[in-house]
Amino acid sequence: MGLKNKDLLGLKDISKEEIQIILDTAEPMKDVIQRPIKKVPTLRGRSVINLFYEASTRTRTSFELAGKYLSADTINIATSTSSVVKGETLKDTGKTIEVMGADVVIIRHPVAGAPHMLAKHLKAAVINAGDGAHEHPTQGLLDMFTIREKKGRIEGLKIAILGDVLHSRVARSNIWGLTKMGAEVRVVGPSTLMPPEIEKLGVQVFHRVEEALDGVDVVNVLRIQLERQQKGLFPTIREYARLFGLNKERLQAAQADALVLHPGPMNRGVEISPDIADGLQSVINEQVTNGVAIRMALLYLLTGGTTSETSD
Ligand code: CP
Repeated sequence: MGLKNKDLLGLKDISKEEIQIILDTAEPMKDVIQRPIKKVPTLRGRSVINLFYEASTRTRTSFELAGKYLSADTINIATSTSSVVKGETLKDTGKTIEVMGADVVIIRHPVAGAPHMLAKHLKAAVINAGDGAHEHPTQGLLDMFTIREKKGRIEGLKIAILGDVLHSRVARSNIWGLTKMGAEVRVVGPSTLMPPEIEKLGVQVFHRVEEALDGVDVVNVLRIQLERQQKGLFPTIREYARLFGLNKERLQAAQADALVLHPGPMNRGVEISPDIADGLQSVINEQVTNGVAIRMALLYLLTGGTTSETSD
């Protein structure tokens, strides 16, 4: 079985079965990246283009490595040194890349919906690598893969998402994905950083960290997005850290074996204390490794691969 659509634009738009297919396909891909020679010929002759209008370390590099490990030709376009600075539209840039032979275009853009617009105009597969505060589906998938790998399941787990939910595309993709997979999802943060009517997405809303973390199996800590902040949403960084930062005392409310996730990049000492970020419950480095496996799975599935082929 493969995926229904030619693109991956968000976890809102895909089914539980498709999420399952992606997570299952990422397992043999993880085996590949743990070999001394990390190369298989699966995507030989295919072209993958990274088109990033915003900064990235993890997502862009892991897509590039994912393509290379599968033997695709991978190219990064830095929009700051491309014809975008001469005023070229997103549609024209996308078309230009496509007529050069791109099979997959991976786009990160500050405007919500930009990948959806591009996908309508291209025959190539489009993957959303983060659009504004809307969705970051590959982050949601790698978070779910990490949770499933460590806990053996997602269904029935209690998962808290802590922090700046309002500005977080990671939170939205996690909420869509985790609720579809049967987890009990809680969101917690200052009321000024909580989207109105977020409970309509099937989550429980908390404003005290200790209450939200009571008995949870997983805490996913969000980055405070200083670049997207309007002034005045919380008094000071120090005040935020004091009331909402994840530290040893607060983590004690969770299960003793609770996992700590963070999508990165971290503001150490703000949303997460360094001892927790580097502690035994942290799976932050595993998330990054799993991001390569998830992105390999997506490149494979969106270029026509199926789960039955990977299990042969
Ligand atoms: N988590 C994440 O999207 O990180 P980057 O911004 O480094 O890609």
